[in-house]
Amino acid sequence: MDRNLALNLARVTEAAALSAGKWLGRGDKNAADKAAVDAMRRMFDTVEIDGTVVIGEGEIDEAPMLYIGENIGTKTGENEVDIAVDPIDGTNSIAHGMANSIAVLAVAPKGCLLHAPDIYMDKIACGPKAKGCINLDDSPSDNIKRVAKALDKNVEDITVAILDRPRHEDIIDEIRSIGARIKKISDGDIVTAIETCYEDSGIDLVIGRGGAPEGVIAAAALKCLGGDFQGRLHPTDDKQIERCKNLNSNLDKIYNIDDLVKGNEVIFSVTGITSGEILDGVKYYGKNKATTESLVLRLPSGTQRFIKSVHALDLKPDYAK
Ligand code: FBP
Repeated sequence: MDRNLALNLARVTEAAALSAGKWLGRGDKNAADKAAVDAMRRMFDTVEIDGTVVIGEGEIDEAPMLYIGENIGTKTGENEVDIAVDPIDGTNSIAHGMANSIAVLAVAPKGCLLHAPDIYMDKIACGPKAKGCINLDDSPSDNIKRVAKALDKNVEDITVAILDRPRHEDIIDEIRSIGARIKKISDGDIVTAIETCYEDSGIDLVIGRGGAPEGVIAAAALKCLGGDFQGRLHPTDDKQIERCKNLNSNLDKIYNIDDLVKGNEVIFSVTGITSGEILDGVKYYGKNKATTESLVLRLPSGTQRFIKSVHALDLKPDYAK
């Protein structure tokens, strides 16, 4: 993939974040989502790829834009790529003015991103120093102890981030029983997984059940950052099992990072909508200025770019508004 694609893909998540940012705390998650989807879709029309959405806003009959299978970009038969998008991860967070809402995408050569069904996935994620120390088949305690050893930390100083959901009560009890620290998050387990790769985020490990599509997107980022990720699909009804069968998903398998994102070429872009531990959210200045913070990652180079942009909103072309 052309490395210069990276900046244009950053523009795509910036556009989504800028549009969604206007909906902060207004209690309307659908409007925020629509704004982000529209902006992302318009900006994708300027990108020189022949892309297919493999993780998107739903099936063709559920989503008017960025649906699974939709063709994206200005090229045909050249630069063929898989695209995974989440115009807003953390729609509740933006609607209620809370942390951890992001606009995010990952792009890899055709056939390299797992076509994950929109169901739950049991996940575990850690940063580069603990790579190889996590295993979904083991208990949270065993994983935490191994990660503590790899990070040269006491178990009591390990911080595990977990979605604040009743389904996680047993995991939380177990983590407490060994004395490790817990950070409960209301939403947004993609950015939290990325945080494990940045020591100053204070997050060492992410454990728990969240969306499978979010799992593939998080794995793309962690692969670029040298971190580790495992996921196992968790369907909750017959319809979901059927959907998994149609996608040839293996329900018993632990998907490793290289099963979720194959090969060694990825471009990943995330822009903060509301602030988290590593990215600021959208901020407005005067009548026509706004700033965004993005993180753009690329393999094979492994480059991590933190991009702080100042946007002159009145000078942007229509497709970027
Ligand atoms: P949405 O923005 O699509 O609602 O996803 C937010 C999120 O918190 C994800 O980060 C996470 O994987 C998933 O929801 C968890 O699902 P649930 O809210 O059903 O527990």
